[in-house]
Amino acid sequence: MSQTPPLHPEIRPMCESDLDQVIRIERQIFLFPWSLANFSDSLKAGYLCRVMEENLTILGYSILMIGPDESHILTLGINPDWQRRGLGEKMLHYLIDLSAEHGAKSVLLDVRESNQGAARLYRQLGFEQIGKRKGYYPAMCGREDALVMQLRL
Ligand SMILES: CC(C)(COP(=O)(O)OP(=O)(O)OC[C@H]1O[C@@H](n2cnc3c(N)ncnc32)[C@H](O)[C@@H]1OP(=O)(O)O)[C@@H](O)C(=O)NCCC(=O)NCCS
Repeated sequence: MSQTPPLHPEIRPMCESDLDQVIRIERQIFLFPWSLANFSDSLKAGYLCRVMEENLTILGYSILMIGPDESHILTLGINPDWQRRGLGEKMLHYLIDLSAEHGAKSVLLDVRESNQGAARLYRQLGFEQIGKRKGYYPAMCGREDALVMQLRL
C-alpha cells in the first residue's frame, strides 16, 4: 500500500514571488487558466489572495473578494498531485471563516456546470445553488453555464 506523507500545510497571504508556482498549477488544472496578469491584478486590487504551502511548495491557492454583505470566491485550486486529500475542503473552511470575520452574511461562488467534483465539495459544506449564468464560461465547443452557489453564514 502506498504511503502519503502527513500534510500540515500553512495558509498564508499570496505574494508576487509565489506567482510562478501558482500559475504553473493554474495551467495544469484549468482548461482556460487565469493569466499571470489576472493574479497580479488581484493582488494589487487588495483581494484576499492566499496560498497553502508545505515545505516551500505551494499545494493550493484561493482568491476571495469581500463585499459589504457578501464575499465571493473568485478562484480556488489545488495542485493535481495533492488533490483528494482534504486540502480543498481545508481551504474552503478557511475562506468561510475569513468571510465571517469580515462581516459577510454569505459566501458566493461560480462553478462550471460540468465540474461535478467541485460542486459536490461545495454542497457538502452547505453551499446551495441559487442561480445559473447562461454561457458564462468559454468551453471547447462554444460556452458553458455557471452554477451560482451560495452559503449563508
Ligand atoms: C475542486 C478542488 C478544489 C477540490 O480540492 P481537493 O483537495 O481535491 O478536494 P478534497 O480532498 O478537499 O475533497 C473533499 C470532498 O469533496 C468531494 N470531491 C472533491 N473533488 C472531487 C472530485 N474530483 N470528484 C468527486 N468528488 C470530489 C469528495 O466528496 C471529497 O471527499 P472524498 O475525497 O473523501 O470523496 C480541486 O480538485 C481542484 O483544484 N480542482 C481543479 C480546479 C477546480 O475545479 N477548482 C474549482 C473551481 S470552482
